[in-house]
Amino acid sequence: MTDFSGKHALVTGGGSGVGAAIALALAKAGAKVTITGRNATALDQVCACHERITSALADVTDIAALRDAFLRAGDSSGHVPLVIANAGIAESQPFHRLECEQWQRMIDTNLTGVFNTFKAGLEHMGEGAGRMVAIASTAGLQGGGYISAYSAAKHGVVGLVRSLAVELGPKGITVNAVCPGYIDTPMTARTLDNIAARTGMSREDAAKQLLKDVPTGRFITPEEVAGAVSWLCSDAACSVNGETVVIDGGQP
Ligand code: NAI
Repeated sequence: MTDFSGKHALVTGGGSGVGAAIALALAKAGAKVTITGRNATALDQVCACHERITSALADVTDIAALRDAFLRAGDSSGHVPLVIANAGIAESQPFHRLECEQWQRMIDTNLTGVFNTFKAGLEHMGEGAGRMVAIASTAGLQGGGYISAYSAAKHGVVGLVRSLAVELGPKGITVNAVCPGYIDTPMTARTLDNIAARTGMSREDAAKQLLKDVPTGRFITPEEVAGAVSWLCSDAACSVNGETVVIDGGQP
């Protein structure tokens, strides 16, 4: 396991699921970690899991709040070279029923949220080296029915990452995306509830439906995604830049 002692990471959406797993993995490996999010109770619960995790309230759609979070994180635990843009929301809708408001919400959180996180993170880094990682999705690499807004936003994240990798590489900053398939988190639990409510299927059958093309036959764990993020932040990955690390159980 890489030793992240002396390093400081900021993880958005750190109050649950993948964000909480990333925070815990980096903290266990020695890093100080600041998690951000909108729900103080959820953030506190993750902080209680490890002494090196602290939190700051910040909505990723609010760049001023993120700038403030980086400032406060820097003041309390030092410079933040590891920036993880994880926060996201998933809503599905047939395109003919997709209204501008829902489209905008998906873009604001899933794409502009990553822009805001990387922008505030880069301002905080100054001239220093660093690592930026976005949690995109396999939906950022291929389309799917009923997920046009989510998929468009995640494709945008992949484009942002690939361009920033070229632009920031010379400054010693790598920028990469992790693209998972379905992960066992509260987000997927809500997806299963929605499928069950809309179709009358059992949750178990809804899960089988989501996993029907996944050779490994199971949901990805948040810890597996956290492992990829840890690797991208490690010295071993210092020349990995502008990549999309796919974790999908071998889905064709
Ligand atoms: P989750 O719902 O458990 O966690 C998402 C976190 O982001 C929550 O803590 C939520 O409060 C936070 N968040 C949402 N909007 C926010 C905002 N405006 N400002 C600050 N925080 C906000 O879901 P999960 O699965 O942990 O998702 C993490 C990331 O992984 C997301 O970007 C998601 O799109 C991505 N992903 C998830 C997959 C899945 O199957 N669950 C598959 C592929 C990617």
